[in-house]
Amino acid sequence: MRAESANLTGDKRDRSIKITKSAKTVARDNIIEVKHYKMVFADKTVIKDLSFEVKKGEVFGLLGSNGSGKTTTIRTLLGLYQATDGKLLINGKPFSPEDNISVGYLPEERGLYKKESVIDTMIYFARLKGIKNPREWSMNFLSRVGLEDSAKTRIDKLSQGMQQKVQLGITVMNEPELLILDEPTKGFDPVNRKILMEIIEELHKKGSTIILITHYMNEVEDLCDRILLLKDGKAAAYGKIDEVKKQFKLSSLEDIFVQVYGAKEEA
Ligand SMILES: Nc1ncnc2c1ncn2[C@@H]1O[C@H](COP(=O)(O)OP(=O)(O)O)[C@@H](O)[C@H]1O
Ligand SMILES: [Mg+2]
Repeated sequence: MRAESANLTGDKRDRSIKITKSAKTVARDNIIEVKHYKMVFADKTVIKDLSFEVKKGEVFGLLGSNGSGKTTTIRTLLGLYQATDGKLLINGKPFSPEDNISVGYLPEERGLYKKESVIDTMIYFARLKGIKNPREWSMNFLSRVGLEDSAKTRIDKLSQGMQQKVQLGITVMNEPELLILDEPTKGFDPVNRKILMEIIEELHKKGSTIILITHYMNEVEDLCDRILLLKDGKAAAYGKIDEVKKQFKLSSLEDIFVQVYGAKEEA
């Protein structure tokens, strides 16, 4: 758990225990390791050979055109798909929900209990996640995203964008150590995108590691430390944004994206 890693300067009396625990945590600075991942669906190879790491505490941008395999990679990482080959590890192990790491996942396909009210739904999940003041937390979040007047509205009476905000609230309420957001701002206007970006940045500052899937390159430039650009089942670009730009001799991610995808498909 996160508390363990913050204990190096702790009380001297039980220092030995704390150092042992911290050393373990500190030794692993990659929260995610993907090694030679391959994914084949029936006759379709979606991922050919993909290796990358996500470092603890960073915001990592997972980029690529529609159908390039971003969602598939995340689903495999979370154990929802079985990889054809390769290793996908979270904290050094294949992910299992019982693991001692909190993961928040905002899937691309979203769904909530649609017949319940917004506030009842949020309180239900807040209790499940052990939030101290479920109603207070939920109402604060709703007012932050401009939904305070919809607290008692049934979920299925909300617009898609509104539902998306509620689901984001549920995903972030326990400040997960690892937060995976699959196109969180899809279909949002600029004002709402900005609010969402602020919420993500706040979690990052509190220490969460974030994987952000998005098609908005300005979000990537603003938030991400490193990126991976998927094409033809491989990493067409990978690394710190500045380094990737140097490599491609281009000054914007948008141009890099266009150049990579403008190039002819590999045989
Ligand atoms: N369960 C599945 N069965 C068969 N094909 C799938 C399945 N899931 C994803 N795919 C295919 O894998 C490819 C990548 O999809 P996806 O990972 O959703 O792309 P992205 O998220 O980058 O837009 C697509 O061609 C998609 O049709
Ligand atoms: Mg997707």
